[in-house]
Amino acid sequence: MADRKILWLCILAGAGFVWASADEVSGPDLARPEAVAEEVPLAPLKQAAGDAFLVGIAMDSGYRGRAADALSVRIASTHFNAVTPENSMKPMALQPEEGRFEFGTADRLVAMAEEWGAEPIGHCLVWHSQTPRWFFRGPDGEPVDRALALQRMRTHIATVVGRYKGKIKQWDVVNEAIDDGPRALLRRSPWLEAIGEDYIAEAFRMAHAADPDAVLIYNDYGIEERHKREKAVRLLRSLLDQGVPVHAVGMQCHWRMERPDLAEVEESIKAYAELGLQVMITELDIGVLPTHYSGADVGRQESMQGREAVMNPYRDGLPDVVAQQHAERYRQAFAMFHRHRDVIGRVTLWGVHDGRSWLNHFPIRGRTDYPMLFDRQGEPKPAFFAVVEALQPPIALAE
Ligand code: XIL
Repeated sequence: MADRKILWLCILAGAGFVWASADEVSGPDLARPEAVAEEVPLAPLKQAAGDAFLVGIAMDSGYRGRAADALSVRIASTHFNAVTPENSMKPMALQPEEGRFEFGTADRLVAMAEEWGAEPIGHCLVWHSQTPRWFFRGPDGEPVDRALALQRMRTHIATVVGRYKGKIKQWDVVNEAIDDGPRALLRRSPWLEAIGEDYIAEAFRMAHAADPDAVLIYNDYGIEERHKREKAVRLLRSLLDQGVPVHAVGMQCHWRMERPDLAEVEESIKAYAELGLQVMITELDIGVLPTHYSGADVGRQESMQGREAVMNPYRDGLPDVVAQQHAERYRQAFAMFHRHRDVIGRVTLWGVHDGRSWLNHFPIRGRTDYPMLFDRQGEPKPAFFAVVEALQPPIALAE
């Protein structure tokens, strides 16, 4: 295997390691680590992951008419072999008005991913958020009835999945259907209200009809933790019992430094695997800022209310000690994912670098967070090297 032939030369340089392939070993002066750092290109993350699982990134091909920034393009094309559109395939982006589909931005991202040899991922078809209100309004302005809601769902799914058939091989079909509270199984999504509990099964059947070869994912946040895992298992088991074509579970994994407990996450991976499902880590990030709200419902907002110093403590930079703790958490997470690589198909990071992370605005607007593997200048952080280390033994000599 090509990967095996690679001599990983690991040189401690400042904050982390520099990796080089066998071809590059003879070049730099090894007595001067700073010379190595300048001359040796960083080994791509996708190379470190090998065939364990795909490593993905979320981004868009442009934002409000602007092209994707060069930094994001460079990082994404070098290090990742899967690309999820962060916003451009959501119902609001693709069908802002009934029957008026806008595929420009999404098409560009799919083309970019193909150019880089990365798999474009579909996100997402049926969700309570970032979905225009017209989906749920009847012709008379009253709430839509079941038949019309199903018809609109079918048109949307058939058109979108059909357009990318054969190009997009994994779809987040239903996003965030599980309720956060202690009692109800399902969130009171407008889809639930319009169609009833079988809206989830219907969505998967429609997606399967549109592309029988696509891997269909149920995606949610918090289902890697116990309280939502039990509900997720109940929901997924019932779908599978009914013969619904659900193939994988997407654990979003929007994390903080202190939670969740990785042992709980590992339990969840095993529980989903026992159902016979593949597991995808679909939206990983690890924020370092304090928050009260620990979920990832995009509709939630908190305010700093004069507590800026406490709630936005790293405006001028991240202390090295925190960067190291952050790296250690990433290392442990990826070591655990790697242990379960037989059931994990993909690990996607939700944002290219710290400056492009949604956590700078969620759940509090206007903060400076540091959740990703690359900093605002696009430089790899200690977390990057920790992930590489977790994915590959430091020195694997050729056989
Ligand atoms: C987020 C995007 O990152 C933001 O840019 C946007 O403003 C709101 O949505 N769960 C999901 C993602 O499934 O689609 C969300 O993405 C983050 C939470």
